[in-house]
Amino acid sequence: MNLVINFAYVVSAVLFIFGLKMLSSPATARKGNLVSALGMLLAVVVTLLYAGLDYKWIALGVVVGSVIGLVAAYRVQMTAMPEMVALFNGFGGIASMLLAWSEYHQQPELTTFIALVTFLSAFIGGVTFSGSMVAFGKLSGAITSKAVVFSGQHLVNGAILLAALGCGAAFTAAPATSYPVFLAVVGIALLFGVTSVIPIGGADMPVVISLLNSYSGLAACAAGFVIHNNILIVAGALVGASGIILTNIMCKAMNRSLANVLFSGFGATTAAKGGGPQGEVKPATPEDVYYILEAADSVVFVPGYGLAVAQAQHVVRELGEILEANGTEVSYAIHPVAGRMPGHMNVLLAEANVPYDQLIEMDEINPRMDSVDVCVVIGANDVVNPAALHDESSPIYGMPIIETHRAKTVIVLKRSMNPGFAGIENELFFYPNTRMLFGDAKASIQALIAEFKEE
Ligand code: TAP
Repeated sequence: MNLVINFAYVVSAVLFIFGLKMLSSPATARKGNLVSALGMLLAVVVTLLYAGLDYKWIALGVVVGSVIGLVAAYRVQMTAMPEMVALFNGFGGIASMLLAWSEYHQQPELTTFIALVTFLSAFIGGVTFSGSMVAFGKLSGAITSKAVVFSGQHLVNGAILLAALGCGAAFTAAPATSYPVFLAVVGIALLFGVTSVIPIGGADMPVVISLLNSYSGLAACAAGFVIHNNILIVAGALVGASGIILTNIMCKAMNRSLANVLFSGFGATTAAKGGGPQGEVKPATPEDVYYILEAADSVVFVPGYGLAVAQAQHVVRELGEILEANGTEVSYAIHPVAGRMPGHMNVLLAEANVPYDQLIEMDEINPRMDSVDVCVVIGANDVVNPAALHDESSPIYGMPIIETHRAKTVIVLKRSMNPGFAGIENELFFYPNTRMLFGDAKASIQALIAEFKEE
């Protein structure tokens, strides 16, 4: 039976890896999700074949968990997706922590290695749980989303971490007599999760959530060693590695180091000035914009966080189709950190059935920008701010942007002159080739569609 189970685990691992690979392109992502889910189903089913399990509790867990997961998946809003991921990471973390705890009771005579992975599973799992709960609280508005910083914070966190490592060493050296130390590890882990996430600004949470996702994988991997389960080790390692890769991609696209995200308290400071062109902006009416779009040969939509807030993805696709019917070449330029979570814009546009081949990555669109007739910036701000290219004092200096300012005309759809996530003014709004169409993005695009339909 063990041979069959381990063979099935190998098949599961292959399905996970192919699934992950398919997730890297919008065209195959849906299938990739299904393939990975199939791998997980196989792993769960064969694991249940182990002798001596109490199926009544497992069945209860499966029913309750499935109902909660199903309701959550149907009801959660796209904009609330990071919160949901935070919750799920947290649950993964506490599962690993509880597993280590219960295994300790099953077999307190641990070898040094098993004692070490029991400590790691409990500690990383605990940090993941409480850290994810804080992240959830910040994103859902239950607690302040601002970075909570106080002097000596790094020292306090360093001391907590040292205490955890000290307890880990003591526990690993003598696990059989160290139950109080194990309990201390659990307590310190829960505390450290809170103290290490509160100094991070709410809008940096997606990066932190990706990091916590990675931690939940590492905790699961350690838990896999504790109970000698190969697929848990493999799946945990995959989650741990992909989480850290994603964290790295996000940090790079924001031109920030992970240390800067974790320790700088970004968002606790007040708004800075961009230092670029100032003066009067040129507002436009839907009718003005209609004439500009009507005459354009090429239009590039540049979506940002405001697209998600306005839920304007369906009307944008409708406008795109109208423009195409009018003989205009239409594409969508995607910045890697537009919005508030990785792939945010891809997901929204896929939901509205925008063809994948019209989605163009930032590195691909920028070299062609000079020949673009009109860029329509929809609720994007920081990711199109030219200050990132030349203003060394800007907090976003060095972040690659979609260089809309090089297009012949730029139309910016937003409600006011308020800044975006970085809290800085955007000099693009004052460029001579920029026109501002103020209002909710969805309402503005609906007004443009109405103009096209009227003519
Ligand atoms: P932002 O710079 O945050 O700008 C969004 C703009 O949307 C705001 O200026 C806002 O202006 C406008 N807006 C909001 N609601 C709107 C509505 N209903 N209709 C029209 N406009 C609306 O967004 P971005 O350009 O997408 O940049 C993303 C930022 O988030 C970057 O700084 C990035 O580093 C950061 N970030 C991203 C991620 C990921 S993974 N994507 C993770 C962490 C941080 P008004 O209020 O005037 O309407």
